Amino acid sequence: MGSGFIVELQRNSTDWANVVAEIVKIEKKIFPKHESLARSFDEELKQKNSGLLYIEVNGEVVGYVMCSCPSSLCASITKLAVKENYRKQGHGEALLKAAIEKCRKRKVQRISLHVDPLRTAAMTLYKKHGFQVDSLIEGYYSSDRNAYRMYLDFESD
Ligand SMILES: CC(C)(COP(=O)(O)OP(=O)(O)OC[C@H]1O[C@@H](n2cnc3c(N)ncnc32)[C@H](O)[C@@H]1OP(=O)(O)O)[C@@H](O)C(=O)NCCC(=O)NCCS
Repeated sequence: MGSGFIVELQRNSTDWANVVAEIVKIEKKIFPKHESLARSFDEELKQKNSGLLYIEVNGEVVGYVMCSCPSSLCASITKLAVKENYRKQGHGEALLKAAIEKCRKRKVQRISLHVDPLRTAAMTLYKKHGFQVDSLIEGYYSSDRNAYRMYLDFESD
């Protein structure tokens, strides 16, 4: 279980175009149009404070997590997804843990994210890793789809 290989996408990587193309395919399959970053993925990733970790199984991109660190104090997880036929094998959890670790090393105080309350798998996964619900934001995704804002605070030492 979870025998994937986590890679951080590097701006100068020769794999950049291939990996982005794979991820855009996954985005299109999983997320409704307005929620999908498919069209703007490349742009989004070129933002200075954005980062992407992906997981490979036998050379195939099977999932990814995207983060951004708009300030030195807080980070946000903007996307987490695993291909349907690779779910329930620990890949989502491995990606989330890696993203949390990356943020911890950057010494941010808080990681926040938005999630549709109907996405049970994601909600359960975030809660399992200590994320708490902050508030419900009505109409976040569209007029009839809400989001929970969730956060994870790091102990300051
Ligand atoms: C959320 C998602 C990334 C989880 O990926 P995954 O690889 O299947 O997750 P894992 O196998 O690592 O599961 C880890 C934990 O997540 C939770 N979880 C995963 N699938 C679940 C499900 N179907 N129902 C309830 N909890 C679930 C459990 O807590 C699980 O831990 P456990 O195995 O100890 O019970 C995946 O379901 C997905 O891509 N969903 C669609 C996209 C999405 O909703 N993204 C989040 C919003 S951007």
